[in-house]
Amino acid sequence: MTSRLATSLCGVSLKNPVLAASGTFAYGVELGDLVDLSALGGIVVKGLSREPMDGNPPPRVWETEAGMINSIGLQNIGVRAFVAEKLPQLRGAGTAIFANVFGYAVEDYVEVVRVLEDAEGIAAYELNVSCPNTKHGGIFFSSDPALLAEVISAVRKIVRRPLIVKLSPNVARIEPLAKAAEEAGADALSLVNTFVALAIDPRSRKPRLGAGFGGLSGPAIKPIAVRMVYEAARSVKIPVVGLGGISNGLDAAEFLIAGASAVEVGTANFWDPSAPVRIARELDDFLQQEGIEHINKLVGTLKL
Ligand SMILES: Cc1cc2nc3c(=O)[nH]c(=O)nc-3n(C[C@H](O)[C@H](O)[C@H](O)COP(=O)(O)O)c2cc1C
Repeated sequence: MTSRLATSLCGVSLKNPVLAASGTFAYGVELGDLVDLSALGGIVVKGLSREPMDGNPPPRVWETEAGMINSIGLQNIGVRAFVAEKLPQLRGAGTAIFANVFGYAVEDYVEVVRVLEDAEGIAAYELNVSCPNTKHGGIFFSSDPALLAEVISAVRKIVRRPLIVKLSPNVARIEPLAKAAEEAGADALSLVNTFVALAIDPRSRKPRLGAGFGGLSGPAIKPIAVRMVYEAARSVKIPVVGLGGISNGLDAAEFLIAGASAVEVGTANFWDPSAPVRIARELDDFLQQEGIEHINKLVGTLKL
């Protein structure tokens, strides 16, 4: 790959702008035998919580037309085990590591980030705010500008590394949330997370997933994600990372044209774990064909 793709995201140098998305690439190290990790723009690890979590009852994944619905329930080994068992190996992966963080109260986020701050080998944080705030009657951080600002400001105060805030698409308008995140101190935004969805088995009349609802991802959501990235990017000055249904280089180009400075690839990893590497190569081919000398020249160039 060429220098056309080399870029930086809120101060983090990336070989290329294609990252593996959280929850779809484990902790990265598990994929090391299948994928050349050093060819990735970066890895966003599986969401990390204060304590280990078992996740939701099975079944936890249902394939849909052009996508999938998951209700993994943020199963993870907990932040301390991540630092002790996964991070030492990840440090040698030769790519930028982004720690995805979540919680159910502001203090949870602060505690997880505090543990990560003491560890080396992390380039930046991605805050997954698509969780209910259990201390505020279960209102989602991602749907209320005031709650969103509260969690971001609390984390901002204690971090030395860049802070990316991952927004949920399950809102009527993304602009107020994007602006609230920027004002509260986010260095970048990433969007979209999954769309709340329900699949039903018509014979049993029961949900297909053990948890009932799940999150829809994959190619089915791409056009909605592109629209939301466009709306978010034009309402803030900080960089935006776009994702949702990217499965080839042209998909990635769409997000960049809509205003994203980098992209993430999620569901495509389930059928091709080296998808982010292939997509970066395809994006490079596209730039060459179009005579575009650097990726940044493509960002935000939608013609309306
Ligand atoms: C099985 C699965 C697990 C996920 N786990 C997380 C997670 O832990 N944290 C997070 O922020 N997003 C998580 N996501 C959301 C993805 O990172 C991504 O935002 C979403 O799937 C849209 O991108 P895609 O269509 O390329 O998959 C998960 C998605 C899937 C399919």
